[in-house]
Amino acid sequence: MKKTILALRPLLAEEMDEVESHFNVIRLWEEKEPEATLMRYKNNIQGILSTYNSTGVRSSTIDALPNLEIIAQFGVGYDNIDIQAAARRNIAVTNTPDILTADTADTAMMLLLNIARRGVEGDVFIRVGRWQSGALPLGSCLTGKTVGIVGLGKIGSAIAHRCRAFGMNVVYYGRSKKDVDCKFYDDLKSMAKDSDFLVLACSGGPDTENIINLDILEALGPKGFLINIARGSVVNEEDLLIALQNRTIAGAGLDVYANEPNVPEEMLKMDQVVLLPHIGSATTETRSKMGKLVIDNLLAHFEGKPLLTPVHLS
Ligand code: NDP
Ligand code: DGY
Repeated sequence: MKKTILALRPLLAEEMDEVESHFNVIRLWEEKEPEATLMRYKNNIQGILSTYNSTGVRSSTIDALPNLEIIAQFGVGYDNIDIQAAARRNIAVTNTPDILTADTADTAMMLLLNIARRGVEGDVFIRVGRWQSGALPLGSCLTGKTVGIVGLGKIGSAIAHRCRAFGMNVVYYGRSKKDVDCKFYDDLKSMAKDSDFLVLACSGGPDTENIINLDILEALGPKGFLINIARGSVVNEEDLLIALQNRTIAGAGLDVYANEPNVPEEMLKMDQVVLLPHIGSATTETRSKMGKLVIDNLLAHFEGKPLLTPVHLS
């Protein structure tokens, strides 16, 4: 008999068809009264297909589903899942690491290049007919500049690799020193002070919440740029707005925000900000691989095989 899976958001069409060929799928995002649907099927639901951009899986949802066995996340970040609540019930959690590393690092570089060299600004400059009246203000050179990476994990390391190819000096901050040929800082403020670009590539969640605040942005200084492809929660967005308004920093390239899909109104008017709508991993190839990995984890679990990419609950 097919197991019942609660899907919070859709996968790409092909993967959605595949998941529906294996499971009974409750498409929660299509339900007019999601709470009532959850209650109606609470005894049937054995798996949740969650996504990085869904409201997430809170302890109240986990507690409401007595037969829940697995939460399979579409995304490497799982800060939207109450991991402790899952651990208490011995519920497996999986995510989609590695396959999205290159695309997300490319997105960081797209932001870095665009903010430093005024790429997006230059495009708008031509389209609104301003070239005839003068030149675009000059950008900032990348070669020889220092990039401070917060979180030298998989994506952080891929960004480091790309930055080196651009002739940049790479340093990093994190919980622990790695066996790599880059300077390590155990103090974020000191690294911000020494960096021209501060690139956020750490995980989200309570441990990194608001670690980028006005103090850190002041250390980054008026020639420094902030790039965030991690999570909006890592940055105190009000402090960032103040820093941008007062030119405490030179600019910011952002893919993620505190309250997605809402972006602070004030930022929309700022030339010194490049905004992307959380597209770090958003290529057809990668999103398809992510969907397949979600399905493979669900199948492995229900077939009693080892999970492909389990999140280790502590
Ligand atoms: P990894 O687990 O490989 O790396 C996470 C890094 O964060 C590690 O270096 C880890 O440090 C560091 N970290 C964790 N907690 C802290 C802390 N308290 N202070 C400083 N550093 C910390 O994951 P990935 O590189 O694959 O992904 C990183 C994050 O990027 C994801 O969690 C997700 O939020 C985000 N992401 C965003 C995307 C987008 O579309 N914009 C796409 C994909 C991912 P340590 O090495 O010591 O463990
Ligand atoms: C993730 O994987 O965590 C992203 O935010 C989307 O790919």
